[in-house]
Amino acid sequence: GAGLDIEHSCGGVCACATCHVYVAQGGKSCQPATDDEEDMLDEAPDVSPDSRLACQCVPNGTQDLIVLIPKWNRNQVKEGH
Ligand code: FES
Repeated sequence: GAGLDIEHSCGGVCACATCHVYVAQGGKSCQPATDDEEDMLDEAPDVSPDSRLACQCVPNGTQDLIVLIPKWNRNQVKEGH
């Protein structure tokens, strides 16, 4: 794993989009987004073609991943309990 710890407001069940991240590199080593993930991303702010939900995006380890966490997402994470 990448050793990355991203807050999962909904417990990783693809229901909150607070784990929205940009996969800048290595996205092809993750499984494609499910319809559920695409639906959540439709609701998320600042969606880019690289957008993924971190809790749904599981890399298979064949490529190095570079994941960017949006600034507003970091703020949102801090406001959590
Ligand atoms: Fe809620 Fe990923 S943790 S959608």
